[in-house]
Amino acid sequence: MKAQVPDYIKSIVPYPPGKPIEELEREYGVKNTIKLASNENAWGPSPKAIQAISEALNNLHRYPDGSNYYLVQTIAETVGFSPEEVVVGNGSDEIIELLVKAYVEKGDEVITSHPSFLMYQKVVQARGGVNRIFPLKGMHHDLEAILGAVTDNTRLIFLDNPNNPTATAIFPGDLYTFLSEVPEDVIVVLDEAYRDFMDAEVQVDVYSLIRNSKGRCGVVALRTFSKAYGLAGIRVGYGLMSAEVAGYLHRVRQPFNVNQLAQVAAIAALNDTEFYEQTLQKTRKGMKWLQQEVEKLGCSAYASQTNFFLINIKGDATVLYEAMLQRGVIVRSMKAYGYTNVIRVTVGTSEENSRFVTTLGDCLEELGYVS
Ligand SMILES: Cc1ncc(COP(=O)(O)O)c(C=O)c1O
Repeated sequence: MKAQVPDYIKSIVPYPPGKPIEELEREYGVKNTIKLASNENAWGPSPKAIQAISEALNNLHRYPDGSNYYLVQTIAETVGFSPEEVVVGNGSDEIIELLVKAYVEKGDEVITSHPSFLMYQKVVQARGGVNRIFPLKGMHHDLEAILGAVTDNTRLIFLDNPNNPTATAIFPGDLYTFLSEVPEDVIVVLDEAYRDFMDAEVQVDVYSLIRNSKGRCGVVALRTFSKAYGLAGIRVGYGLMSAEVAGYLHRVRQPFNVNQLAQVAAIAALNDTEFYEQTLQKTRKGMKWLQQEVEKLGCSAYASQTNFFLINIKGDATVLYEAMLQRGVIVRSMKAYGYTNVIRVTVGTSEENSRFVTTLGDCLEELGYVS
């Protein structure tokens, strides 16, 4: 008999992988392509991480340290939590998966927004869970609708803060009120992949939220080394949570879930404050410049609390995306997310930013989108 796959697995639409740049260049006959589509760090990896990786190469015949001991210690010291409250993963993607694995059974409900980071819904679906999805309200998570949707079957609520793709942050006061009303047995996951780029006044005090959760819902904060720390390619991220929640995630994780190179690279990157600070500074400068320049071209730039932003290009975003691709500039069309005239662009190096603006100008003119 043929092995059966459940319908909820069959109906998953796989995460859309981008083609390798080399393949795109061959297909489109272009060279020197720049990618401003995945919210990566344009300046990374940190030189200290590269050094640490090269020193660790000779040890690749050994399994990694399954407890991630030194990385957990370094993170705990950096963020002021205790090691029992830190779980590291193969990207923060893995922590999302572990949370769903530990807390969601078939038929359980998980609340997310649309559009937001795609992985939440896919992971829930793979578990046979029920996705309850709420449209953003004016580009922000609709906390009121989400709260109203909580039932006895709700296990998790995922809030990416700032939200990907809209780059909006939740006002901390609104979040604290929301959390005070969420039932005790629901976990709210604050995905802070872009926290580093936020203005200080909108950063949430996750320490208090996680430590002082008595009589209130549990909070888990997710962080990543893929963005400000420039290590997207090596896959490492972490979650901050109560020791109790962490204990459940350890039960369901693989014994060697973070590879050896990722562990040493992440420690080195955390200690490379110069690289980190420069990344933040260059991102802010690049963001300001890009937003001014696209406005000069007649587009509208949306405000951002991240290293990417949305642009209303006043014409079909997918057509513009194709035109830019043909000129070797990769951005993201937001049409599939319901924003027909909007693209998402990540801040690049100053050369990449200039090339983006010139190419955007050329494409807008060719397509007759803005005068
Ligand atoms: C909101 C959000 N969360 C999580 C991730 C995944 O991060 P990681 O590379 O750590 O798996 C991303 C990646 O783009 C993201 O945008």
